[in-house]
Amino acid sequence: MLQSFVPRETIAGELRVAATPETVEKLIALGLKVTIEAGAGAGANIDDEAFVAKGATLASDPALAWSEADLVLTVRGVHRENAGRLQRGATLIGLLSPSEEAETAALLAQRQVTSLALELLPRVSRAQTMDALSSQASIAGYKAVLLAAGRLAKYFPLLMTAAGTVKPARVVVMGAGVAGLQAIATAKRLGAVVEVSDIRPAVEEEVKSLGGRFIELPMVESGEGKGGYAKQMGEDFLIRQREIVQKHLAAADVAITTAQIPGRKAPTLITREMVESMRRGAVIVDLAVEQGGNCELSRVGEEVVHHGVVILGPANLAATMAEDASKLYARNILAVLGEMVEEGKIVIDPENDVVAPMLWTHGGEITHGPTAERLTQATTAGMGG
Ligand code: NAI
Repeated sequence: MLQSFVPRETIAGELRVAATPETVEKLIALGLKVTIEAGAGAGANIDDEAFVAKGATLASDPALAWSEADLVLTVRGVHRENAGRLQRGATLIGLLSPSEEAETAALLAQRQVTSLALELLPRVSRAQTMDALSSQASIAGYKAVLLAAGRLAKYFPLLMTAAGTVKPARVVVMGAGVAGLQAIATAKRLGAVVEVSDIRPAVEEEVKSLGGRFIELPMVESGEGKGGYAKQMGEDFLIRQREIVQKHLAAADVAITTAQIPGRKAPTLITREMVESMRRGAVIVDLAVEQGGNCELSRVGEEVVHHGVVILGPANLAATMAEDASKLYARNILAVLGEMVEEGKIVIDPENDVVAPMLWTHGGEITHGPTAERLTQATTAGMGG
């Protein structure tokens, strides 16, 4: 019987878990045996007993569980030490950071481990139930607005009180992908006036349907790149965009930035000068801070105050809502397994249009082109130096 293992996450502050009692029951129905590391669900408020009640076994010796597993389900991938414990032919699924962890890929390939990076899932309708980037980004967008509202010394909604009228807060959202759209919806629900900047023309309708105002940019060419993602725009365009957005930021109480370009540093959308032109007490939440930041002054995990403007750079916001984040993430994983498990066995079909692109390593090879290239470049640079 296929032995699956759900470890406790090892990255500091990572409170999510890759399975919940709900999905354990379904994994067992798929024909899997499920072992959970003791305490794996603690950060998401799930007791060991709740897993056991649904048929899971608890692993008290995690090192042994890693070495015996046929399938490991993780949130944030594998520590090198544990990668070294995996048996030949084992399968690993998680958010494996394929653009950063080339050396882990080499180790997994060498050990003949099949690994699937959820970041590489194609953004097509058929894959929506499996889309962990979306389920987690949506949480980040929601939480970003709550952080801003908590830090702002003003109301979000328009209020008519006996003491007079309070104007609604003005929120600028930059980047209207999954996180940005959820930020718009949340800020609107709280009653703010929301303005939005994005470079993909396709999002304008979505923004308007959520009640946001779209900031028009002089698009000489579309910002739409491969697979529905944004493409990198030239510096001339970004300068022009900053000039236009600056006017909106000067009147804003809150700015939420979520703009990203896959595999590259996030574009700089708010410079130091722009921060200095904002009103005292305004709050910026930079969700792209871990990808280099949309705001020049944001710092990972810190609150920076510059000219009276509060700049938050929260890392891993999804983990701050570990309970729902894990619930959704575990369902994403279950949906992926639904594509791969046949009669209690893992079958990788190279023709499967959602599974094949997620393969990071398979059959002793690094199957993801950009990771293999990065490794070759690193080796060549190493030889040169
Ligand atoms: P992301 O996190 O890569 O980027 C966030 C947003 O930043 C994007 O909307 C992007 O256009 C924007 N951006 C980039 N540069 C910018 C700039 N200079 N100024 C303003 N905005 C800028 O995007 P995410 O959330 O991962 O979504 C990417 C695409 O995938 C979208 O088209 C989305 O609709 C699509 N998608 C499709 C799904 C499906 O069908 N299964 C599921 C989820 C997303």
